[in-house]
Amino acid sequence: MKICYTVDEVRTAVKEWKRQGLSVGFVPTMGYLHEGHRSLMEAARKDNDKVVVSIFVNPMQFGPGEDLETYPRDLEKDSKLCEEVGVDIIFHPEPEEMYKAGFCTYVDMNGLTTELCGKTRPVHFRGVQTVVLKLFNIVTPDRAYFGQKDAQQLAVIKRMVTDLNVGTEIIGCPIIREADGLAKSSRNTYLSDEERRAALILSKSLKLGREAIEAGERDSKKVIDIISQNIATEPLAKIDYVDVVDFATITPVDKITGETLVAIAVYIGKTRLIDNFIVEV
Ligand code: PAF
Repeated sequence: MKICYTVDEVRTAVKEWKRQGLSVGFVPTMGYLHEGHRSLMEAARKDNDKVVVSIFVNPMQFGPGEDLETYPRDLEKDSKLCEEVGVDIIFHPEPEEMYKAGFCTYVDMNGLTTELCGKTRPVHFRGVQTVVLKLFNIVTPDRAYFGQKDAQQLAVIKRMVTDLNVGTEIIGCPIIREADGLAKSSRNTYLSDEERRAALILSKSLKLGREAIEAGERDSKKVIDIISQNIATEPLAKIDYVDVVDFATITPVDKITGETLVAIAVYIGKTRLIDNFIVEV
């Protein structure tokens, strides 16, 4: 496994692989890798001849007052995990390598990014789209792997790839959870013991919402109420949003039909956690 720090190093390696007719799988990450990332890397390993993982805490997708400076980093541990899974290249650029002086081109979207996380994180998706397209242009992968935990991000990337004719297949992978149900996230590391226990309210409340839909409930508002009321029973939890949207377009729906995303963002203390499920009705 090789760690590349520059765009040129990655380009040279991938060019050689492509000359040999090898396929390339890509897992973009911000590092501090956990079992969720491992599942993406394993899927990439299974489907492709070569695997590239990027580890880059992308400043552009953090808003003012968000956790850019404190975002956890551990390249040594990450490298070990990548090595174990059989990753071929880690791309770990400095911000200056990704954003040269004078940088002023962005990928923006009129739909999909205004709801859910877009409401409270207005610059987030522009930063995600821009960096992901840049990474795609550098790595030129056949397939790229994204976790369903960031469901809105997954929908946004799928839309971007369709709209801009990017020749990379986007593969969504299931949420990986702790044994007690908490969705794996690099940000779980911010939680104190008490907060870690309180954070279970996310998956527990979503479960109630899912059960209601499985029992025949189709009214989004009722499902939102069931979830919100349960979250409100946890004193350490503060709701950012509980929403029901069409998964492809990320627009709110009154009636649950088709592929529907039920998504929540909840502050546990100062830490903002997200979780969701998708139903096909
Ligand atoms: O999901 C993430 O970790 C990031 O948003 C991504 C896709 C690596 C872009 O920086």
